[in-house]
Amino acid sequence: MGSHSRNLALVTGATGFVGRRLCTALLERGYRVCAAVRSAESAQRLPADFEPCLIGEIGPATNWEAALGADVDVVFHLAARVHQLRDRAADPAAEFQRVNTAGSACLAEAAVRHGVRRFVYVSSVHAMCTLADDVLTEQSACAPSTAYGRSKLAAERVLQEVTGRTATELVVVRPPPVYGPGHLGNLSKLLKLAERGWPLPLGGIDNRRSLVFVDNLVDALIAVAEHSAAAGETFLVSDGDSVSLPELVSSAARAGGRSPRLLPAPTSLMKTIGRLTGKSDAVARLLGSLAIDDGKLRRALAWRPPVTLSEGLQSTMRWVRDAA
Ligand SMILES: NC(=O)c1ccc[n+]([C@@H]2O[C@H](COP(=O)([O-])OP(=O)(O)OC[C@H]3O[C@@H](n4cnc5c(N)ncnc54)[C@H](OP(=O)(O)O)[C@@H]3O)[C@@H](O)[C@H]2O)c1
Repeated sequence: MGSHSRNLALVTGATGFVGRRLCTALLERGYRVCAAVRSAESAQRLPADFEPCLIGEIGPATNWEAALGADVDVVFHLAARVHQLRDRAADPAAEFQRVNTAGSACLAEAAVRHGVRRFVYVSSVHAMCTLADDVLTEQSACAPSTAYGRSKLAAERVLQEVTGRTATELVVVRPPPVYGPGHLGNLSKLLKLAERGWPLPLGGIDNRRSLVFVDNLVDALIAVAEHSAAAGETFLVSDGDSVSLPELVSSAARAGGRSPRLLPAPTSLMKTIGRLTGKSDAVARLLGSLAIDDGKLRRALAWRPPVTLSEGLQSTMRWVRDAA
């Protein structure tokens, strides 16, 4: 157990993919955890040893008093309105702002009032951009191209305002796509096909992608909560090496015990098919790059991801096989 054993952590988004793993890791490291959930129904999805704290909908008027009443040392704010496959909101952009930006500000104001030592905000690389030819660092310009990304960047800025010149230290973490047992993200269909040995026309793609395995992200979140050098900083985080889409799909195939089968279709053909089928954006996302350099986190905190990309993929593909 570290020096923070028995400290109380408030985790929002505790029922989510990352939040569940974070709560488990915090309990294992000796923290007490208050798992904030929006409803009794959500709470039923928590493991039995988690103590839920009902907070209702996150937004500009959420009442955080019960959750923060007891001596919380660190807040991990993960709850967010994330990309929606079929968005039913009348005004999705306003909804992203209400939950992600105004909701985060409301929690930070309460955290400052209660003297919380550290506020760890899980933002997203999408607060910077969705695709980029150059490798991103924390110094790269932010030009988010989605309502989700804009709401995350606006949240980062409002949190800096709310916590500035107070005793509450803000740390912002911007993960790339997170994967792990339980969640394969946007590429899940492709990776599942590769794992089953299907030939895929992706051999001509030459791009770079960064990913982070869920347990690596959780380890980094706890590191930035504990390390004095993290106070007031913004960090990108990843598994380390970036991969091309063909490399990723090949690893998934090998993790499934298959030889990768990649057909060398020219990317110009893929773009034409995308245009003809009205799926230009999806094809651009497939072909494009989004690689990050997380050297700042490694240098400032001497942090290293405990799991390699290849180990992370193997354990994830094992889950895919077992779940099939
Ligand atoms: N997964 C990724 O690839 C990825 C990449 C970059 C950044 N991130 C960020 O990492 C964080 C965690 O992501 P995740 O993948 O764990 O997300 P997730 O599995 O979709 O979980 C989202 C969590 O937020 C809660 N939530 C959403 N809207 C809410 C609202 N209006 N009021 C109260 N609670 C609400 C959900 O509660 P219910 O269970 O009640 O719905 C759930 O616990 C998010 O901030 C996300 O933006 C994720």
